[in-house]
Amino acid sequence: MGRVQGRVESALGRLLPGRDIGPQRLHQGMRYAVLGGGKRVRPLLAFAAGEAASADPARVEVAACALECIHVYSLVHDDLPCMDDDVLRHGKPSCHIEYDEATALLVGDSLQALAFHLLAEHRVADDPATQLEMVKILASACGSRGMAGGQAIDLAAVGRTLTLPELEHLHMHKTGALIRASVALGARCSATLSSAELASLDDYAKCIGLAFQIVDDVLDCEASTATLGKTAGKDASDNKPTYVSVLGTAEARAMAEELRVQAHSALRNLKAGGTRLGELADFIVRRNF
Ligand code: IPE
Ligand code: IPE
Ligand code: MG
Ligand code: MG
Ligand code: MG
Repeated sequence: MGRVQGRVESALGRLLPGRDIGPQRLHQGMRYAVLGGGKRVRPLLAFAAGEAASADPARVEVAACALECIHVYSLVHDDLPCMDDDVLRHGKPSCHIEYDEATALLVGDSLQALAFHLLAEHRVADDPATQLEMVKILASACGSRGMAGGQAIDLAAVGRTLTLPELEHLHMHKTGALIRASVALGARCSATLSSAELASLDDYAKCIGLAFQIVDDVLDCEASTATLGKTAGKDASDNKPTYVSVLGTAEARAMAEELRVQAHSALRNLKAGGTRLGELADFIVRRNF
């Protein structure tokens, strides 16, 4: 994990506009939000899926950076006063606190554009058709039928009680969609996997995508602000429906564990190379930050 995280950190440092290039405040805000924080789970998933496909790591690196740009954009906007109104992210003031709201909005916009720029500029697949498919996968995952749609559902759900299927729908969109795209993009950096193997990888990704947000909900209520690097206990104080509010922490954890087991079963359909993906499923469910 440390090796991939280090590689992604330095690639992002190179690919983001320099802090001295104008408009400087915007570029500095982008670098502030992206660099020096975060678990880099989406890049880790892309690299692990890329490894299962025996893909060239230089290609996966580009896809991983695009995914992380989308992820960080989503966090910068998620923290804005009009959304979750959070002042702490990655152990430091949220982007709109360190800079200002308008800059944070533009940081998110610019990171989203940068993600697609990266996928258009660099060779990431064996053939142009697959590369275009990857652009489309990322676009659907972060748009109104994916992450942004999930965020809309999340905000509309404040103060309401959701059924379990409604909650699953919300979590699969706001968080699951980008996690699925991370596995899908990594796996397409080389054309070696069969469509059956790609389908099994997607089954795996659906399980860990949902599990990821269930664990995020549990940690929001069980972990401390210091370990999380973001304000703990925020979901309850904001009246957000979560797996914890609906099921309680013990049952929520049990559900994440069940999804971890299901994720491992999906990997059994791969011919080879699923070890790291299995380890990441374990990390996603058993992490404490
Ligand atoms: C937090 O994601 C937001 C969700 C989608 C749950 P991460 O836990 O991956 O954020 P990092 O690791 O701090 O970047
Ligand atoms: C955020 O979910 C999902 C996205 C940013 C798309 P949360 O609102 O639970 O994330 P945290 O807890 O603030 O990191
Ligand atoms: Mg939120
Ligand atoms: Mg939030
Ligand atoms: Mg959360």
